[in-house]
Amino acid sequence: ADVVEHTFRVGNLTVRKLCQERTIVAVNGRLPGPTIKAHEGDTLIIYVVNESPYNMTIHWHGIFQLLSGWADGPNYVTQCPIPPGGSYTYKFKVVGQEGTLWWHAHVSFLRATVYGALIIYPRAGTKAYPFPKPYEEVPILLGEWWNANVVDIENEAIATGGAPNNSDAFTINGRPGDLYPCSSKHTYKLTVVRGKTYLLRIINAALNNQLFFKVAGHCFTVVAIDASYTDPYFTDVVTISPGQTVDALLVADASPGRYYMAAHPYVSVQNVTFDNTTTTGILRYVSAPPSSPPAMPALPAFNDTPTAHRFYTNLTGLLHPGAPTVPLAVDEHMFVTFGLGLIPCDKGNGTCAGPFGEQFAASMNNVSFQFPTKLSLLQAHFFGVPGLYTRDFPDSPPVVFDYTSPNVTLNLGLLQTVKATRLKRVKYNATVEMVLQNTALLGVENHPIHLHGFNFFVLAQGFGNYNPAVHKKSFNLVNPQVRNTIAVPVGGWAVIRFVANNPGVWIVHCHLDVHLPMGLATAFEVENGPTPSSTLPPPPADLPRC
Ligand code: C2O
Repeated sequence: ADVVEHTFRVGNLTVRKLCQERTIVAVNGRLPGPTIKAHEGDTLIIYVVNESPYNMTIHWHGIFQLLSGWADGPNYVTQCPIPPGGSYTYKFKVVGQEGTLWWHAHVSFLRATVYGALIIYPRAGTKAYPFPKPYEEVPILLGEWWNANVVDIENEAIATGGAPNNSDAFTINGRPGDLYPCSSKHTYKLTVVRGKTYLLRIINAALNNQLFFKVAGHCFTVVAIDASYTDPYFTDVVTISPGQTVDALLVADASPGRYYMAAHPYVSVQNVTFDNTTTTGILRYVSAPPSSPPAMPALPAFNDTPTAHRFYTNLTGLLHPGAPTVPLAVDEHMFVTFGLGLIPCDKGNGTCAGPFGEQFAASMNNVSFQFPTKLSLLQAHFFGVPGLYTRDFPDSPPVVFDYTSPNVTLNLGLLQTVKATRLKRVKYNATVEMVLQNTALLGVENHPIHLHGFNFFVLAQGFGNYNPAVHKKSFNLVNPQVRNTIAVPVGGWAVIRFVANNPGVWIVHCHLDVHLPMGLATAFEVENGPTPSSTLPPPPADLPRC
């Protein structure tokens, strides 16, 4: 195993997009930032120097961080931010996972421009992919672009309950694509050789939108999601929520020409304003006639829930040597409702802009997660500092939840939401099952729920209210898909299961960035195990101070 080292200089970068010049925060003067390539078993050392005017942290999305929780990155959860002028070395080992992950800033909306791919190849010299070796591998990072400052956008969005925060463009590898003004010269282009197979490592780095992605004239074979191998799944469209990744093989078997790759949002909500624009890139055969006009793929309609649901639910995990098996005995049963709502106004803290002067908030089990500001939760946990959090995150919602009703529950209990930092404490190696029920009083939409520190099995998912008497029968305990982020449909549910084999504090949150500061999160506090190899070591000496 190797040591892979990088220096990330996070700083201001002036770029021209959509006919305007803008200063953004970027890593090493590039957008997207550098691609990290490692093999399973390697140690990664990333020295982050914050030359930007903002507080900064970097999260390695999907990395287990086994016994290295200090390198996980969420602001005030596992570390205090790196202040302007400061630095921090993220050091961790990549163990037991391979495929496509990514990294991004985990503080305010800064991940809009601070992100990049993190690719884990099979352990050097031991294994190959469980699919034919591609001719070339291509990261496809889908993102969002704002003409305005993203921190201003975030503050506005929080004050108004999520809107208006439509971006000005979607991007492929940082480029808006030729359907946007002043963008045709810089459209992303991929040159392919006829007959060859390409592995597209697709990452949804957009802040607030699920996306449909297609390539005209071509189909995909999905072979992995969230750095977990899947049974090969043949499809002409990929649906991907913020935080997720999809590894898809594409065979360049069309007639030599130019083809658009394109993405636009999948919006589960009707009658709302949203960014209904499309980003493009161009797939070009080397042998294509020079000026052939590219063909455009027919993307699904913005509200095509059946297509999105088909993609999300048809994937199954590949039973390969080393694949994790579903634990059958559950130690912690949790029923977690979440959504957006209004809470009584707290004048000192936020804008009271609701229809009756309330505040907008998002919550899990009616607790709107509050980030500490003086010390990170992991420090408080490790050093036993009292007062930062409590251990009473409820295992079920406080209002009686009618799971026998097939309808979307209007969770009026959201009106009783409290703002607090309540963690769920679990024993080392406990098997945790969470029923994730998407309820809503307002803002009826899908929420991509992301768990730090672990992958989880997706046992079942569906629409309406979860009903154990009916839905337990549909659990896939044999080859469920394994993920770190699941898009739970509006008025729908998912059941996930994971083994808490990693001591530390791990946030679970909605990966629509606008919902994170509104409190759609909670965190697990996982106790140490009995041996040194199941005990969280002390923090590195350069952990930023608050
Ligand atoms: Cu990719 Cu907590 O996030």
